[in-house]
Amino acid sequence: MGKEEGASVAGAFWTLSPVVVIASSMEDKVNAQIAVTAVTSSIVHTIPRLLVGIWKGNYTHEFITYSKAFTIHLLRKDQIGLVKDFGFYTGRERDKFENISYTLGVTGSPVLDDAHSYAECEIINAMDGGDMTAFLVSVVDGGLLSGGAWMTLNDFYSNAPPEWVAEYGEKLSSSVSYSMDIIHNIDYTPWKP
Ligand SMILES: Cc1cc2nc3c(=O)[nH]c(=O)nc-3n(C[C@H](O)[C@H](O)[C@H](O)COP(=O)(O)O)c2cc1C
Repeated sequence: MGKEEGASVAGAFWTLSPVVVIASSMEDKVNAQIAVTAVTSSIVHTIPRLLVGIWKGNYTHEFITYSKAFTIHLLRKDQIGLVKDFGFYTGRERDKFENISYTLGVTGSPVLDDAHSYAECEIINAMDGGDMTAFLVSVVDGGLLSGGAWMTLNDFYSNAPPEWVAEYGEKLSSSVSYSMDIIHNIDYTPWKP
């Protein structure tokens, strides 16, 4: 028993999570990032909701806060290249959609042409977590694209080239030092729609 073992149990929620692309719009710009922090949060089949954790330092966080919407995509296991393209770099420094085909969905957020599937989401509440924001979202539209088996974080670790895993590890370490400074700095002001 102890905090270490608690951390191992919490790790299960990390490695078995689907790897998703979160795409959002801000005025005439589009951007997307990778996330593994999406979980279901409604028991009512006709009112689907998700809870999604987005780090404040990400450019996508600005897009979501601005538009109050995003599209979440499940990826196929063979789309590991997209994890690097969307998850290793920031849209502040490159146009991540330069070679990506997409349309704008009903929320105005990008919908990738090629993914396992997608759900379009609107923010209905948000909770500050210090270094990240937990967005409660309502799923308003969606579709199955190629289908098949979707990618989990375990799949990424098993199938990505070792140098990619190392690069992700380094990126995580620098993100952790950013988080440590602000993770306990929680703003308890309620979110206003
Ligand atoms: C496998 C993987 C999982 C990730 N999970 C999350 C996550 O759950 N939440 C998050 O905010 N960022 C997550 N990231 C980090 C962002 O995708 C990454 O910082 C991205 O470069 C942000 O891009 P942006 O600045 O254009 O928004 C993950 C990255 C990878 C590669």
